[in-house]
Amino acid sequence: MEVIRNIGDLKKWRQSCRANGQTVGFVPTMGALHEGHGALIARSAADHPQTVVSIFVNPTQFGPGEDLARYPRTLEADLGLSNSHGATMVFVPEVKDIYPPGSDSWVEVLGVGDHWCGASRPGHFRGVSTVVAKLFLLVEPVTAYFGQKDAQQAVLLGKMVNDLRFGLTMVICPTVRESDGLAMSSRNRYLNDWERGQAIGLFRALEEGALLVNRGETDAKKMERVMRAKLHEFAPQAEVDYLGFADRVTFQPQVLVATPCVVLGAIRLGKTRLIDNILMGEPRMGIVGLG
Ligand code: PAF
Repeated sequence: MEVIRNIGDLKKWRQSCRANGQTVGFVPTMGALHEGHGALIARSAADHPQTVVSIFVNPTQFGPGEDLARYPRTLEADLGLSNSHGATMVFVPEVKDIYPPGSDSWVEVLGVGDHWCGASRPGHFRGVSTVVAKLFLLVEPVTAYFGQKDAQQAVLLGKMVNDLRFGLTMVICPTVRESDGLAMSSRNRYLNDWERGQAIGLFRALEEGALLVNRGETDAKKMERVMRAKLHEFAPQAEVDYLGFADRVTFQPQVLVATPCVVLGAIRLGKTRLIDNILMGEPRMGIVGLG
């Protein structure tokens, strides 16, 4: 497995893949890798002779007062995990490579990011779509792999890929969970034991919402109240950022819930913000953004 730290070497590497007729799969990350990333890397490695993992803590997707400075940086362990799951190259750019001095060009996807994480974290999705667009242009993958845990991000990026004709396929892989159901996340490592015990409340609340939808309940407000109560049963200290139901394609909130939809939530436990979701109805998320 190669480690490349600058754009010149990346271009040479990419050119040699082209010369050898090798397709490239791509897993963009901010590092602090866990088995959820491992599953994406393994899937790419099964699909392509070359798999690139990028590790870049993207400053433009963090708002003022968010956790950019303390975001975990664990490069050695990340290289080990990437290698063991079949990555052939890890790209570790610096901020100046991705945002050359004076750069002021942005990619903004309208609509999908209006609510939920987009509302709680102004500018977040503009930072995500901009960095992912830049990385796609540099790495030129045939397929890019993302996790369903960040469902709003995945749908927004799928729209970007379609709208801008990136000519690649995005594969969205199922959320990987701890044995109690907590979605794996780089931010879980911020949780102390007491917070970790409560963190499962988010998934339990979402399961409750999914259960009610399956029973035929449609009133989003009523279900949100039940979900809050379930969350606080497990996590009395959790602060709700949002709990609700969104259209699967537009991510607009549903007032009268109808499938396909996504039950989604974000909470804060101490200083840690956690998100999760459950997809309801067909089609499953699988592949979005066919270029
Ligand atoms: O999901 C993430 O880790 C990040 O938002 C991404 C897609 C790597 C962009 O920085």
